[in-house]
Amino acid sequence: MCNVSDDQSVQVSLGQRSYQIVIASQQLDQIAEAMNSWLVRRGYPRQGRAAVIITDRNVLESHAAIVSLSLRSAGWRCHTVGMDPGEQTKTLAAASHIYDVLVDLKADRQTVIVAVGGGVMGDLAGFVASTYNRGLPFVQVPTSLLAQVDSSVGGKVGINHPKGKNLIGAFHQPIGVYLDTSVLKTLPDREYRGGLAEVVKYGVILDPVFFEYLEQHVADLNAREGNALRHIVARSCRLKADIVEKDEFELTGVRAVLNYGHTFAHAFEALCGYGELSHGEAVSIGMLYASRLAERLGRIDAELTARQKRLLEALHIPTTLPASSRLNPDEVIDRMRLDKKAVGGQLRFVLPTRLGHVETVTDAPESEVRAVLEELSSAP
Ligand SMILES: NC(=O)c1ccc[n+]([C@@H]2O[C@H](COP(=O)([O-])OP(=O)(O)OC[C@H]3O[C@@H](n4cnc5c(N)ncnc54)[C@H](O)[C@@H]3O)[C@@H](O)[C@H]2O)c1
Ligand SMILES: [Zn+2]
Repeated sequence: MCNVSDDQSVQVSLGQRSYQIVIASQQLDQIAEAMNSWLVRRGYPRQGRAAVIITDRNVLESHAAIVSLSLRSAGWRCHTVGMDPGEQTKTLAAASHIYDVLVDLKADRQTVIVAVGGGVMGDLAGFVASTYNRGLPFVQVPTSLLAQVDSSVGGKVGINHPKGKNLIGAFHQPIGVYLDTSVLKTLPDREYRGGLAEVVKYGVILDPVFFEYLEQHVADLNAREGNALRHIVARSCRLKADIVEKDEFELTGVRAVLNYGHTFAHAFEALCGYGELSHGEAVSIGMLYASRLAERLGRIDAELTARQKRLLEALHIPTTLPASSRLNPDEVIDRMRLDKKAVGGQLRFVLPTRLGHVETVTDAPESEVRAVLEELSSAP
């Protein structure tokens, strides 16, 4: 178990690009202090601090307004750009709109871009920060659970191309992440549960003790209890940061463990129609398919799959495909071959060998994959 200080801050060590993730609760109004200290440490001048907040309209008047007030009270010039919420805003057109605003504001290399919102705002604002004027300092204030435990850690930023999600992007580490778990109170239930699926994933792939913690704190997690939230967010950030520190640019394959459940999930999301199944829901279902595949390949026993299913169900995260989806196994397999993580059309799965440990498997027989798809899709 972590002690309290581990739940207040996570250090991401990447040489000159190292940064701190502050984990606060009901302290969004103190963000200016943290941002000032990050800038001082990097040698930015103390005068003329300026920030542009990129946010979506669901959190603009609540959480983004508090960030803006905190910065203004500390003497910053601060401008807020409100975007439409949702994945459809992760486009070049939206980035271009923000570039126009930055030009009008005469933003310079000292202007800090602050993303306030879920993963969409983080990816979009981060992409703008990585490209405008060859790179601006970037701060993330993630407000969805998925953004707090996943997208705000690791430096991947980007936008979608009409032909592919996240096709245009960069690695651009923030100078800091300021994360306040109390903002999760306003997060819609479905978004919250989707984020929890990624939290469960960290337990399965990296940390059996954390998995047990989740099992023991189901009631607290369902109630969004403050201490439990802080712990799961801090532990998830630490676990992802450990991986990112070993493979910052996704070159060595270490980062691939984070894709547990995702080979199935990406195919399910695409074939069910984006929106029908959220990403987190698809990951929950995808983990169980992957786990069942691991069972069939003799890597784990049935109890490990059952244990994941019990936890996901207790957290009210879907564990089976919608009855209406009726996916054809051949279509799913074709889709998995198209996945950008598949190399040369070869199916690639991240499969558990025990709780807390996974391996990349590239030689799973297609007949076994098909059997899992047929068996689980026809289960009552
Ligand atoms: N960069 C990465 O490493 C990485 C990793 C995983 C996912 N992603 C990206 O993240 C995106 C998904 O992120 P997401 O699930 O946060 O989606 P999102 O940004 O669309 O947020 C989900 C919804 O919740 C709303 N919301 C967010 N915080 C809220 C709050 N506190 N109160 C009320 N409403 C709130 C948003 O307005 C939105 O409607 C995808 O585009 C995905 O590609 C990136
Ligand atoms: Zn995911």
